[in-house]
Amino acid sequence: MRIKVFTLFPEMLRPMLGASILGRAIAAGHLQVELIDIREYSADKHRNTDDYPFGGGAGMVMSAQPIVDAFAANLPEDFCGKRVYLSPRGRTLTQKVVEELSKEKELVLLCGHYEGVDQRALDQVIDEELSIGDYVLTGGELGALVVIDAVSRLIPGVLGSEESSEDESFSTGLLEYPQYTRPADFRGEKVPEVLLGGNHADIVAWRREQSLDLTLRRRPELLQTAPLTEADRDMLARLRRAQAIEAVPGLDHQGLQAADRFPKEWFAAFVPEAQRKAAKRQCFSGRRHVGWLWQAFSMGFIPEFAESEAAWEAWRESPPERCWLYLPEDRLLYQVRGDFEPPFPAFILADEALTRTFVRTSRPGKGPYAAVGPGR
Ligand SMILES: C[S@@+](CC[C@H](N)C(=O)[O-])C[C@H]1O[C@@H](n2cnc3c(N)ncnc32)[C@H](O)[C@@H]1O
Repeated sequence: MRIKVFTLFPEMLRPMLGASILGRAIAAGHLQVELIDIREYSADKHRNTDDYPFGGGAGMVMSAQPIVDAFAANLPEDFCGKRVYLSPRGRTLTQKVVEELSKEKELVLLCGHYEGVDQRALDQVIDEELSIGDYVLTGGELGALVVIDAVSRLIPGVLGSEESSEDESFSTGLLEYPQYTRPADFRGEKVPEVLLGGNHADIVAWRREQSLDLTLRRRPELLQTAPLTEADRDMLARLRRAQAIEAVPGLDHQGLQAADRFPKEWFAAFVPEAQRKAAKRQCFSGRRHVGWLWQAFSMGFIPEFAESEAAWEAWRESPPERCWLYLPEDRLLYQVRGDFEPPFPAFILADEALTRTFVRTSRPGKGPYAAVGPGR
């Protein structure tokens, strides 16, 4: 692709165009970038390129003459590419727009400065105005670099492998999943187990879930246009539920994380068989870094059940302020307020009749959970 940049400050662009991936792409001929200094086309004896705005107001405006003449001298009459003016008033640059631009044979970028450009120049030589975001820069050069950088990544040969630009944020319609590299354990922070296991299908599923989760949290509007499968929609329903539960005010995250210490063998007691395979993939990957039991519950793998009369009866003496009560098979899962006395439970696991109730304990002699409760 050929790109021509019309600017008053070509020296602002040169360092970026000579370094890293862009520098290599230009050196290899995948991309040709020509910088045209607008000042050289000024007909003014002092080579001025700007003047005061008609009607008054702050700052200077770039004059039409040097711009129009610079375009005429550097573009053929039958030019059939796209001529873009970088401007905060323009269409916002998105990955979709970048894809569109990457299909052009030739791209022309006009960088404004000061208060902008005389409208007559824009009317004569520009096809479209593009903004790189809702903020105002001092000049269009950074915007031009952003366009060049984003477009060049889509030109075959610029990136190491074609795949590198296919799986990224926005290309899939979603934000990208988290990436990790060695070491597997960085100062105690471990890479999610699923990425170390070598099971390609599990890794693909985990990454997809991460993308959906991040997009739902940060850019939910993207989900309206992203191409989603039936499985994606199912996963989104689980993620929405999990996020809604996590957002409950005053939720005791410490207590929930303590659920990591529930033996994984208990998984079968909570999660119905039909859900187990999918649930294990979700819950043992460390994706949320909270307890597997909590993940299984919050993502809806543990079926909900009506509140149990027996349980309420048993706790009537000291009713919990907040309580979710679920009855998977023969066990109950509670979350109660942190200062609940006695003896300070944040998370309780019990069987239906409360004959065996385990609460979190800070007494080392007794282990992380001690059997207590009304039905002891
Ligand atoms: C200070 S700005 C002029 C802003 C103009 N007075 C306005 O309010 O729209 C100077 C130049 O920076 C460039 N520029 C500023 N913000 C930009 C943005 N968000 N996207 C693209 N170019 C921008 C444009 O080329 C513009 O002509």
